[in-house]
Amino acid sequence: MSDNPVALIVLAAGQGSRMQSDLPKVLHRLGGVPLVGHALAVGRALEPEQVVVVAGHGAEAVKKAVGKLDSEAAIALQEEQLGTAHAVQQALPHLEGFEGRVIVLYGDTPFIGEDTLLALASHHADVVVLGFEAADPGRYGRLVTGPEGLERIVEYKDADEATRAIRLVNSGVLAADADLLRALLPRIGNANAAGEYYLTDIPAFARAEGRRVEVVTCDEAETLGINTREELAAAEAAFQTRARARALEDGVTLTDPATVWFALDTYVGRDAIIGQNVVFGPGVTVESGAEILPFCHLEGCHISSGATVGPFARLRPGAELGGDVHVGNFVEIKNSVLDEGVKVGHLTYLGDAHIGEATNIGAGTVTCNYDGVGKHRTEIGANAFIGSDTMLVAPVRVGNRAMTGSGSVITEDVPDDAMALGRSRQVNKPGLATRLMQALRQKKGQ
Ligand code: UD1
Ligand code: CA
Repeated sequence: MSDNPVALIVLAAGQGSRMQSDLPKVLHRLGGVPLVGHALAVGRALEPEQVVVVAGHGAEAVKKAVGKLDSEAAIALQEEQLGTAHAVQQALPHLEGFEGRVIVLYGDTPFIGEDTLLALASHHADVVVLGFEAADPGRYGRLVTGPEGLERIVEYKDADEATRAIRLVNSGVLAADADLLRALLPRIGNANAAGEYYLTDIPAFARAEGRRVEVVTCDEAETLGINTREELAAAEAAFQTRARARALEDGVTLTDPATVWFALDTYVGRDAIIGQNVVFGPGVTVESGAEILPFCHLEGCHISSGATVGPFARLRPGAELGGDVHVGNFVEIKNSVLDEGVKVGHLTYLGDAHIGEATNIGAGTVTCNYDGVGKHRTEIGANAFIGSDTMLVAPVRVGNRAMTGSGSVITEDVPDDAMALGRSRQVNKPGLATRLMQALRQKKGQ
């Protein structure tokens, strides 16, 4: 951490017209979360005092998504996209009274590393620009350096041949003291080839004031920005490759790494085993030593040590599996807590339920949690035995050590230690089966 307080500004107003999409660019998903979520997540490493996201195109949708990603982030509106300096200026009113470092990130640049950002934030120059040596400098802003650090940034459109030959380019990430930004931003004009207010004018302005301006460099891969669907798909592939490598480094067994899909915040503990074709949506934590068998889809859930899940299981948000829980094939669990040692082997839906320790849920059990209007809870005690094909019509409670007969429709609470039978009594008609078959065959023969 730097000793200086940090505020984060994430620029996310652009339309991203090259995405060919009605969705604002920064809301396209990468690693299971909107692009802007990546900038917000890495920015959190700086423990910022304040976070401001500058939204423009699709501002309402961006605001909603940002609210879910980071409830403390503020939204600044940039109605017209007049340039990156103009964008930052829209954020400044939210930082009134803030003294310290402001870090500007782009919402469409998801791979900036935590270490890079920390290096930038803790640098002592008045302005620090994150640059990189580009394999192909293309249309990036060129960093013109001299003996005293960074002299100025020249945008591609405004650069002469000699300047275009520079390969050290601007990533767009910048750190500057809040007071300096407040003083310099209003002075930036738009008399340039693009007719935009360039944030990249800050270094030259700061130098003219006798301030220290420096470049911190990073790997080009960190600065990858998303502009097209093709770039998004390539970024997803790069993200997954890294996530898989990280999981392996952390001591996770991936039976076939290329078929496992991670989300930005997936946490898997050491010695967990992840089978083939497992997909992690956001918000999943898997404790050390748990096993996920092939073909599972997990989202917003927690799996404790010793638990086994799948194959072919779906855990939805709010599923919490205690230690040694067993969830088998074709089981769906949503917003339900399964205490230690619960077994749900086959073909079951558990929603809005709590299942006590060591209870067994028979094949085909369904918590009927939704009546078309509201959702209702099912409470099952410890050491209970739910017979196969039980319909538990919520709200309903099944006591400790209680049992339900197979095929029961349980509409009333079941006391501790009781057996509940909610099905019609069986009737046997001697000889009727063969008589019926004979009659049917005869009819067909006629
Ligand atoms: C910018 C930099 C360039 C750098 C490049 C790196 C400037 C003037 N140029 O150029 O030096 O090499 O990024 O990718 O800063 N945005 C807003 N509001 C605006 C304008 C932009 O929110 O009014 C956002 C965009 O949504 C985008 C980011 O700022 O996420 C960068 O804007 P963009 O227009 O793509 O800048 P570049 O021309 O790529
Ligand atoms: Ca860009």
